[in-house]
Amino acid sequence: MNTETLSLIKQSIKTIPNYPKEGILFRDVTSLLENAVAYKATIDLLVEQYRNKGFTKIVGTEARGFLFGAPLALELGIGFVPVRKPGKLPRATISQSYELEYGHDSLEIHTDAITANDKVLVVDDLLATGGTIEATVKLIRQLGGEVQDAAFVISLPDLGGEARLTALGLELVKLCE
Ligand code: ADE
Repeated sequence: MNTETLSLIKQSIKTIPNYPKEGILFRDVTSLLENAVAYKATIDLLVEQYRNKGFTKIVGTEARGFLFGAPLALELGIGFVPVRKPGKLPRATISQSYELEYGHDSLEIHTDAITANDKVLVVDDLLATGGTIEATVKLIRQLGGEVQDAAFVISLPDLGGEARLTALGLELVKLCE
């Protein structure tokens, strides 16, 4: 991947100290979205990476996974499937819970959105602990979909997500750290 483009993408993501609490360096991808050149370059790099690889669906996790997954799906000419917080999807769903720092939450997918013929790419903005992506992969596999690839605009390598997702058999693409 072109290093100038990667550095444009990385520089366009603002880092906000002490948000949402003391000691956290928050990586704010909304500043990337505000930069039309950086946003387009991000989607173009992902297109380059994943075109002609036989993917049939992109799954994006609420909410920021939609912002990168949907434009990528359009460019690749394949469908986009949202994974959402409970109660947001109108048709029949299956649900998968995952651990939070305190307690747990769950994610849902439409039961008929993925079939056994699908080869799925999972897309999200940022990889931290990997908990939501692990839940997303379990949902896809429960519906019979094949999923071996996940793409992130940015990864925070100290939080364990890369090891967790690799253990699920996923191949990861991260545009920056
Ligand atoms: N999610 C978990 N850690 C984060 C961080 N540092 N910045 C943005 N999103 C996050």
